[in-house]
Amino acid sequence: MALATTSQGIPVLILKEGSKRTTGREALRTNILAAYAVAEVLKSSLGPRGLDKMLIDSFGDVTITNDGATIVKDMEVEQPAAKMLVEVSKAQDAEVGDGTTSAVVLAGELLNKANTLLEDNVHPSIIIDGYRKAYAKANELLTKAAKQIDSSNVETLKEIAKTALASKIVSTGSALESLAEMSVKAILQVQEKTDGQVKIDLDNVKIEKRKGESLLEAQLILGVVIDKEVVHPGMPKRVEKAKIALLDSPLEIEKTEMTAKIQITSPEQMRAFLDQETTILREMVQKLAKVGANVVICQKGIDDVAQSYLAKSGILAARRAKRSDMEKLSRATGARIVTAIDDLSEDDLGTADLVEERRIANEKMLFVEGCKNPRAVTLLVRGSGEMILDEVERSLHDSLSVVRNVVLDPRILPGGGAPEAYLNIKLKEYANTVGGKEQLAVQEFADALLVVPSILAETAGLDPIDALAQLKAKHESNNSSYGVDALSGQIKDMYKIGITEPLRVKSQVLKSATEAALLILKIDDVIAASPPKKEPKGGGAGGAGEGMPEGGMGGYD
Ligand SMILES: Nc1ncnc2c1ncn2[C@@H]1O[C@H](COP(=O)(O)OP(=O)(O)OP(=O)(O)O)[C@@H](O)[C@H]1O
Ligand SMILES: [Mg+2]
Repeated sequence: MALATTSQGIPVLILKEGSKRTTGREALRTNILAAYAVAEVLKSSLGPRGLDKMLIDSFGDVTITNDGATIVKDMEVEQPAAKMLVEVSKAQDAEVGDGTTSAVVLAGELLNKANTLLEDNVHPSIIIDGYRKAYAKANELLTKAAKQIDSSNVETLKEIAKTALASKIVSTGSALESLAEMSVKAILQVQEKTDGQVKIDLDNVKIEKRKGESLLEAQLILGVVIDKEVVHPGMPKRVEKAKIALLDSPLEIEKTEMTAKIQITSPEQMRAFLDQETTILREMVQKLAKVGANVVICQKGIDDVAQSYLAKSGILAARRAKRSDMEKLSRATGARIVTAIDDLSEDDLGTADLVEERRIANEKMLFVEGCKNPRAVTLLVRGSGEMILDEVERSLHDSLSVVRNVVLDPRILPGGGAPEAYLNIKLKEYANTVGGKEQLAVQEFADALLVVPSILAETAGLDPIDALAQLKAKHESNNSSYGVDALSGQIKDMYKIGITEPLRVKSQVLKSATEAALLILKIDDVIAASPPKKEPKGGGAGGAGEGMPEGGMGGYD
């Protein structure tokens, strides 16, 4: 396999022994099949009637999800072309936070249709050109079809959040209403307007999960909530007009790195030695009190002695806060994270109207409200189990993302496969103007788009062929906002029933799916190096890292 042949027919060795090479149609077909297999897995989870997947990792941990990006990530796909689709969903998630299932499913369908053309002996480069043309036209049509909205209208934004949530765990009822509303309020609260430019940092929206109660008990808190309690019973549990110090060094006497011996020969020396430690801790606390701090959040530990000094000074303190929480608190309260207490000054302190420990489901949490920077909010979600809470968190990520998208770019499209049906008809018309074999590729591109309404219809219990025919009939008579209402199982005007999506998400779906399909279609040669030989067990010092996950032992927070 590692051979190439010269024009005189002489074989030459160009690759390392053991390398595998597949070329031409065979390479292309294998790649298409592998990528299509990934898309097939995701198909059944598209839309509000889509089903969930249960994923079990090598440690036995279970995830139940409907989120495309999470499914493909956890599937641990190995085949390189299939991995490209995993990358697509990741990119889609990073760019717009929603539409990850659609992107993968569409990429798979584009490849499937390309495969039909390949079988008919259409050259890949013709398919590529046709797909490129079709994509450019589709993108132009989508942008034209989009409707401008008033991005400060809470009701309109809520509809978009609801469409994103509808396909997730909170698909109906009052939980859907309240989570959609909270997503909108959260985004409007954290948006920053400078010189007519809007900026929204999703990091300013913290999602905190707590087991117990139900989804209905979720709360939006204007501030930061951290999963920590006040460290000493003698400390206040509530501090108004808080002045907050954030420390990332311990309020403890650090043990020396080297082993040292101290010779103590008398009880007095022993006492002096212990006093010395106490004095250092007292001075640390005195310094905090002197600069005016009445709340201390420490990323590391707080010694018992330091705790009682802090309590005596009326300071509320929490220890071992997560780095990410420290950063959020810093942004929200304006405090600087300080390492050396000696350098602490009043300017380093942050402010908040209220810091209070509250009991949530038998556990205590620290609420920091009325922060200096009002652009910091926390969504505290409740639910009966960890798996549910994790899926709610992923769903909220989607609804927050879509609201963010539409505030940044206030153009929307109808959902329920309406834009796909619209593009199908328009691209077919366009194909007639293209001519040649490329025309066939444009037509296949147009048909591939129908995969979305077809799945939505199928999961709603409709006959997809019938539903598509009805849908096309509507679109042919210029009713371009008609789609499949997966809940009632009817073809309806999506704008009328409030199923809308950001243009940004749809354009990105189209873009990522086409890019991935083109990338795979361009490959006609796969050269795979042989996997490295495994060291015999117990042989030599080099075996130390064997079996370790990528990235080794690092990664502790
Ligand atoms: N009530 C509804 N009726 C019909 N279609 C709907 C409804 N609500 C949402 N949809 C459609 O469902 C599709 C989105 O499904 P889903 O959220 O499962 O996948 P995704 O957004 O592509 O990926 P993910 O959310 O996993 O990142 C969109 O086409 C959307 O218009
Ligand atoms: Mg979605």
